[in-house]
Amino acid sequence: MREFSESYLSRTREGMWADSRAALEPLALDSRNRILDVGCGTGELSRVLAAESPGEVVGCDVDPELLAAARDHVPVVAGDARRLPFPDDTFDLVVCQALLINLPDPAAALAEFARVSTDLVAAVEPDNAAVEIDSSVDAEGGLERRARRAYLDGVDTDVALGADARDTFEAAGLEALETRRYDHVRTVEPPYSEMAVVAARRKATGAGLADDRETMLSGALTEAEYDELRGSWREMGRSVIEQMEAREYRREEAVPFFVTVGRVA
Ligand SMILES: C[S@@+](CC[C@H](N)C(=O)[O-])C[C@H]1O[C@@H](n2cnc3c(N)ncnc32)[C@H](O)[C@@H]1O
Repeated sequence: MREFSESYLSRTREGMWADSRAALEPLALDSRNRILDVGCGTGELSRVLAAESPGEVVGCDVDPELLAAARDHVPVVAGDARRLPFPDDTFDLVVCQALLINLPDPAAALAEFARVSTDLVAAVEPDNAAVEIDSSVDAEGGLERRARRAYLDGVDTDVALGADARDTFEAAGLEALETRRYDHVRTVEPPYSEMAVVAARRKATGAGLADDRETMLSGALTEAEYDELRGSWREMGRSVIEQMEAREYRREEAVPFFVTVGRVA
């Protein structure tokens, strides 16, 4: 199982759902009584659910460190998405965000969601193959595309599942009702946040890429290709820092997320 750090989640979820929550409307949050957020991590989505619903929101995750952070926002229960520690029909909505893309058998998890829900099941999942980057450092977009392709090639789960989650709902025996798209756009521009400065440093040192080295090498990328990519990556990182020092660096990243909602049969 891939592990996620608290800082990775706060960096990649920065601003998510702050601009529009229209894609969450089919979840009928204003009429829910009990909601379960599975694979809640630090509770990034749980907080949004709690703000939008009068019902109780419970977070559930396998990672105790992430759960400790989520506990500041909602009640939490340790548990595995494939064997949820709840009796049948405990919630009227069971939802996850960026969980199914990490599971080898996402349909089995959705079937387990359906077991503990009386009404709705929903998944907010990205299409990581369709991320778009626009940067004032010319090389950045191309290098990120190369690195992403190598990473996706080495991952053995469907990290592009978002757009096609409907099929997975049907395979789990759920009636798929609706899918809505939400583009999570993150912009880096002056004045730079501390998070943006840390991200730039991680590019210049190659630390960010090194985290994904093993996954990349388990796909088609050779060690020599990885070393060459890392050299170009670090050079790109140094250009990012130079542009930041001149307050000229700008970057926009758009990650397409798809909210799929289904009804328990
Ligand atoms: C990409 S993170 C998403 C976290 C959070 N939903 C969000 O959007 O910020 C994936 C989360 O799923 C959790 N996870 C992975 N496999 C799991 C499993 N089998 N059961 C429960 N949680 C799991 C991880 O610990 C991590 O917190």
